[in-house]
Amino acid sequence: MDAGRGPASQAWTMELANSISTIDLDRSGLTPNALIDPFQRAITYLRVSVTDRCDFRCVYCMAEHMTFLPKAEILSLEELDRLCSAFVAKGVTKLRLTGGEPLVRRDIMTLVSSLSRHLASGALKELTLTTNGSQLQRFASQLKAHGVNRINVSLDTLNADKFRAITRWGDLDKVIAGIDAAQAAGLQIKINAVALKGVNEDEIATLLEWTHGRGMDLTVIEVMPLGDVDESRLDQYLPLSIVRARLAARYTLDDIDYSTGGPARYVRVKETGGRLGFITPLTHNFCESCNRVRITCTGTLYMCLGQNDAADLRSPLRASGSDDLLHGALDEAITRKPKGHDFVIDRRHQRPALPRHMSMTGG
Ligand SMILES: C[S@@+](CC[C@H](N)C(=O)[O-])C[C@H]1O[C@@H](n2cnc3c(N)ncnc32)[C@H](O)[C@@H]1O
Ligand code: SF4
Repeated sequence: MDAGRGPASQAWTMELANSISTIDLDRSGLTPNALIDPFQRAITYLRVSVTDRCDFRCVYCMAEHMTFLPKAEILSLEELDRLCSAFVAKGVTKLRLTGGEPLVRRDIMTLVSSLSRHLASGALKELTLTTNGSQLQRFASQLKAHGVNRINVSLDTLNADKFRAITRWGDLDKVIAGIDAAQAAGLQIKINAVALKGVNEDEIATLLEWTHGRGMDLTVIEVMPLGDVDESRLDQYLPLSIVRARLAARYTLDDIDYSTGGPARYVRVKETGGRLGFITPLTHNFCESCNRVRITCTGTLYMCLGQNDAADLRSPLRASGSDDLLHGALDEAITRKPKGHDFVIDRRHQRPALPRHMSMTGG
């Protein structure tokens, strides 16, 4: 994957390596067999794509006509539980279920319920999920009952027609009803909005007022060049430097030292009192503090969202009822975690940086 990188990229990699060496790595509380990568980053956060399927077809995430994996290739809920538990045994303290749409996976609450034992034991600090909200009305109170306290809901617009255009299949009312149900169940919500050129760029302030007015955080995300999606990425891509400058003309944005363990940089918006996050994989790379890895619903481990290198965990999982092979495979894979990614979207780079869609690795 690194073979085709140019001098600019190499310079960036050097800069990143230098910044990594200056990070103050907190080793307290790590298990003795913790997953530590070659850059001394401890892997404590696992994102699990429980299905590649979804009831929406967001224009930046999927093509309209997608070919999904045959069911036989997908790990059973029991296998997903075993895989997640192996990561927990190796020091993962935060687990996020994602997809595709995690809440369309059949019997998903069985997995949430069984994973919640790691919350009860104290091994896991947080069990959470990222959802499009379409099924929240049905599942919000069960999630809360199983120990989920915070969730991310993806919502790019409050305009029903625009919502339909962005998601192709989605119904805004259903998502808002899901958010209502989640708040009523006591779940804290962070809204994730992808900034889309010419689509919702005039609405970010509206989303900000709405989310903060309802006691929710808002995070805006730069579109990433993952997978073929029918549209040009250059037409979609809106640098968050522009979004931030526009908001700063209207609001007082105070940088704050808040982190949810993810890549967002947060500000406090003085006028609303709420938190606003920026996820900027393109305009500002966040790899130096990366503590996470991702697994797909087939048990493929991606050590970096923006790179192709992967490890097959399904084979060691299925080869033996004991977890020894699996633990060995995890240790080996972490030695291959790269320093970082370098997404580019410009006139010369309009094709996907990577062939896989975000729905495969779950963002
Ligand atoms: C892949 S979705 C999976 C979970 C769930 N279906 C949802 O939409 O929240 C996770 C997150 O990735 C974001 N996303 C998808 N494709 C993206 C892309 N190409 N660039 C940036 N964010 C993307 C979505 O907006 C969503 O917030
Ligand atoms: S962003 Fe989420 S809701 Fe939209 S198509 Fe991708 S997986 Fe589905």
